[in-house]
Amino acid sequence: MSENAHYGLLKGKKGIVFGPLDESSIGWQIAVHAHREGASIAISNVAAAMRFGNTDELSALCGNAPVIVCDASKNEDVDSCFGELKEKLGKIDFIVHSIGMSQNIRKQLPYEELNYEWFMRTLDVSGLSLHRLVSYALKNDVLNDGASVLALSYIASQRNYWTYSDMGDAKSLLESIVRSYGPRLARRGIRINTISQSPTYTKAGSGIPGFEKMFEYSDLMSPLGNASAVECAEYAMTILSDLSRKVTMQNLFHDGGYSSMGATIPMIKLAHEVLNDKELAERVGLEDFKPAK
Ligand SMILES: NC(=O)c1ccc[n+]([C@@H]2O[C@H](COP(=O)([O-])OP(=O)(O)OC[C@H]3O[C@@H](n4cnc5c(N)ncnc54)[C@H](O)[C@@H]3O)[C@@H](O)[C@H]2O)c1
Repeated sequence: MSENAHYGLLKGKKGIVFGPLDESSIGWQIAVHAHREGASIAISNVAAAMRFGNTDELSALCGNAPVIVCDASKNEDVDSCFGELKEKLGKIDFIVHSIGMSQNIRKQLPYEELNYEWFMRTLDVSGLSLHRLVSYALKNDVLNDGASVLALSYIASQRNYWTYSDMGDAKSLLESIVRSYGPRLARRGIRINTISQSPTYTKAGSGIPGFEKMFEYSDLMSPLGNASAVECAEYAMTILSDLSRKVTMQNLFHDGGYSSMGATIPMIKLAHEVLNDKELAERVGLEDFKPAK
């Protein structure tokens, strides 16, 4: 798919993308691609992101998309966001939740010693906020029948990734909210899904301790290699379009095959080399490792 290819998949549709910060953001790429596919969109983020990010530039790229300031952890913000959205765009066909934040990760607290106020905030901002967006979208009667709701997840919802800390718990919550809402929204043909994306260099992603190593490992373990933010946005277009109208309550892996792999030949070779090279094993802290017989 060339960078400029577009198929009119979202022609005539309207939607809102929460969480684009700068060009590296997954939400940014989704907003640009949605506009390119023919949608009229609004974009939203917290006030601080308007100062530190490039929201105005994104708005211009997306046909002067309305920009709505909203903290997705605050009921009143989300309520007025959908009120304003309805005034500016009318009823909409998709919501994209591309929001994540953990103060515990930022401060690199060990999982055993998490600050519980920050833990609650991680769950609220990164998980519960999806519930809140859907709840207030319904209360404001802003969703058209057949709409698509999409959030971004990571495989740490199901598997342990040491340094992903409380974000793993938040992603489990996020995916569970998708399942709980699914049948309720289905009465109106509305779908709700998560895309579970490869590690991606963004502001949130690269704030995770050891991110570079996670990225490299994941790339080696993925038969198709890690998926980029642009590729994620391309995939997201199919989920926002009518082509996926019977897909709901799913956690859709977009990870180059990573989630189905047991071992890849490059990873096995690397492990074998390290374990049989005393000096190298010592350098990476594996000098005492003895494979179980
Ligand atoms: N980067 C990765 O490796 C990766 C992998 C899988 C899934 N994801 C998910 O993709 C989504 C987007 O993250 P990203 O990697 O593009 O990083 P990003 O930093 O570009 O985006 C995160 C956004 O969340 C916003 N945000 C934080 N608190 C908020 C609040 N209270 N209300 C509204 N918005 C708030 C930030 O301002 C920011 O724009 C997140 O859910 C993230 O967990 C990222």
